[in-house]
Amino acid sequence: MRPTILVVDDESGVRSSLAGVLSDEGYHVEAVASGEACLQALEGRRYDLILLDVWLPGLDGLQTLERLRAVDAQVPVIVISGHGNIETAVKAVRMGALDFVEKPLSLEKTLLVVRNALRQGQLEAENEALRAQVSQKFAMVGESPRIRALRAQIAQAAPSNGRVLIYGENGTGKELVARQIHLQSRRASGSFVEVNCAAIPEELIESELFGHVKGAFTGALTARKGKFELADGGTLFLDEIGDMTLKTQAKVLRALQEQRVEPVGGAASVDVDVRVIAATNKRLEDEIRKGAFREDLFFRLNVLPFEVPALRERSEDVPVLARHFVRELSAEYGRRPREIAPEALSALQAHAWPGNVRELRNVIERMVIMAPGERIEAADLPAPLGAVALPGGAQAGERLRDFPSLAAARDDFEKRYILQKYEECGGNMSRTAEALQVERSNLYRKMKGFGLLPARRGEP
Ligand SMILES: Nc1ncnc2c1ncn2[C@@H]1O[C@H](COP(=O)(O)OP(=O)(O)OP(=O)(O)O)[C@@H](O)[C@H]1O
Ligand SMILES: [Mg+2]
Repeated sequence: MRPTILVVDDESGVRSSLAGVLSDEGYHVEAVASGEACLQALEGRRYDLILLDVWLPGLDGLQTLERLRAVDAQVPVIVISGHGNIETAVKAVRMGALDFVEKPLSLEKTLLVVRNALRQGQLEAENEALRAQVSQKFAMVGESPRIRALRAQIAQAAPSNGRVLIYGENGTGKELVARQIHLQSRRASGSFVEVNCAAIPEELIESELFGHVKGAFTGALTARKGKFELADGGTLFLDEIGDMTLKTQAKVLRALQEQRVEPVGGAASVDVDVRVIAATNKRLEDEIRKGAFREDLFFRLNVLPFEVPALRERSEDVPVLARHFVRELSAEYGRRPREIAPEALSALQAHAWPGNVRELRNVIERMVIMAPGERIEAADLPAPLGAVALPGGAQAGERLRDFPSLAAARDDFEKRYILQKYEECGGNMSRTAEALQVERSNLYRKMKGFGLLPARRGEP
């Protein structure tokens, strides 16, 4: 689409020469002679750029600039200044004009400034669209009193810089809360950097958090920044903080106290400005009593405590969430969104959801892929909901025919077997790995592959 530019100048010569040269460049141009006419034009339509003379009869350029911001807060403005009123032009730039050009106008310079301004406006629009997409992705669905209260608490706490500790069972939406706090904070334009303390092998966690210098240890072929430094100016999300060893806790505590980190193998430390949000599915008070968590670190982190309620404590949210996930996942899989039959919704609502919202999402995902009909029916639900159907039962006999290949059947069994053990172990990754007699990193990779863990940023 051709960008539309509004020229505001009382000199007809300037209006016509600008209109001429800008249309030659392929822009659509409108021109008016006064600030009043500019404001009136803005009531009628959106412009991609305004070229505004500072010296105007009636409303002058600065007054016009101030008022036009009330109509269109975003439109980029370039100020045209006459000889001798550069100061006014500078003032205009302080008031939010993007740039200024001087009379007599060099057409080349003017075109350059116009091009840059349009480019910048376009980038800002794209940026905003992306931001909207991100916040859409992390929208928190639910109208139960507990979720409403949580949303209100997020809105209140986000703008402060206070450290946040989020407690909640597995899959309740702790990460979502963390992301919302970041998105609604003054750090929203900074990065949100996530560290899963349970997923990183003990010997690597220090370098993961604080970075390392070249040659700090075998395999450290190049220097690498740690997550604290990557989150500088933004938010650091320490997930599953209850799984951090006491040794690492001591180092994190020091980093928080001093707002600086020391890369592994390095002598110099680096200042960081980071807001820390931590999450855990363990009652840290119990861990402190057991001697597994440092009390001083707990008090540092727990400035703003959040608790995300289990799904069974807000089952009125199940239908809203189920429909939300059908919509989201249908789009993701390129399928038509479908209704969910009332009996299916009641069955979903009656389930206890030990894996909370994540488990619900997984069930919906499977139905979006597998349910054959026009509508998602109760018969499409895994039966009995959430339980492991081992080969041999009547249910299992039915299902076995559905698998297209041995690999698909094996995956399905493995996925449910792991999930069951994971739930039995209270969502503790290390204990689950032990119970299954596999390596923890191996288990983590598998669970992530099965979608039993959230996709990390930057991964599909
Ligand atoms: N209120 C909600 N509205 C929409 N989606 C939600 C909501 N709560 C959770 N989800 C979705 O459920 C899944 C699990 O949420 P999230 O990863 O935030 O939970 P978690 O508490 O961090 O889980 P875990 O303990 O397993 O790390 C995600 O896909 C998330 O988008
Ligand atoms: Mg999480």
